Amino acid sequence: MNKLLSLILAMALLCASIPAFAEETPAHVLVVYFSHAGENNNVGVIEEGNTSKMGKIIAEQLGADVFELVPVVPYPEDYDSCLDIATEEQRTDARPEYEGGIENWDQYDTVFIGYPIWWGEIPNIVCTFMEAYDFTGKTVIPFNTHEGSGQAHSQRDIEGLLTGATVLKGLAVRGSKAQSDADGTGTDVANWLKQIGLAQ
Ligand SMILES: Cc1cc2nc3c(=O)[nH]c(=O)nc-3n(C[C@H](O)[C@H](O)[C@H](O)COP(=O)(O)O)c2cc1C
Repeated sequence: MNKLLSLILAMALLCASIPAFAEETPAHVLVVYFSHAGENNNVGVIEEGNTSKMGKIIAEQLGADVFELVPVVPYPEDYDSCLDIATEEQRTDARPEYEGGIENWDQYDTVFIGYPIWWGEIPNIVCTFMEAYDFTGKTVIPFNTHEGSGQAHSQRDIEGLLTGATVLKGLAVRGSKAQSDADGTGTDVANWLKQIGLAQ
């Protein structure tokens, strides 16, 4: 009888420990993005940026961790003012700072990098991030939102900057779609993840 009780107790302990173990398994995929809430092209005034919505869909489908590049000096809500600041940042090749940093960088072998296209370019704050970490040996996947430029030349720029990484083909989604069509964006993301071999 004692043996039976011990066996039942051991089984119960084992079952209880399995979910705990699953929860503690660290993610190896990280989704990093910059996104601007407030007034934006074709979407009005939004509470959450378009790229943020897309980034969270990617993270949800892959069970990835998320790190948002939150500017130390916030960008203005007003669209025209934001255009002016982006122009100035590009002119001066600025490196705007963001809040905090990524803990356990070595834990991630795959890093998604997300951004809106700003004047045909990757926003400068994303360059701040890309220059701050060692991407050697990592797999990097760009993703972005836009209102007509697609990826622009951002794929090529990231490949040129992160030479130690393997850069897979990125995905560009219209910002207005990412903002208001979660199902359609989710389907685009799922198909793309299959194409690049990160989902079945
Ligand atoms: C400063 C600025 C510059 C932009 N330049 C472009 C551009 O060159 N090409 C384009 O297609 N969209 C451009 N857009 C539109 C954004 O790329 C688009 O609205 C994007 O979805 C915004 O994403 P977010 O909400 O994550 O910031 C620009 C928007 C801003 C604010």
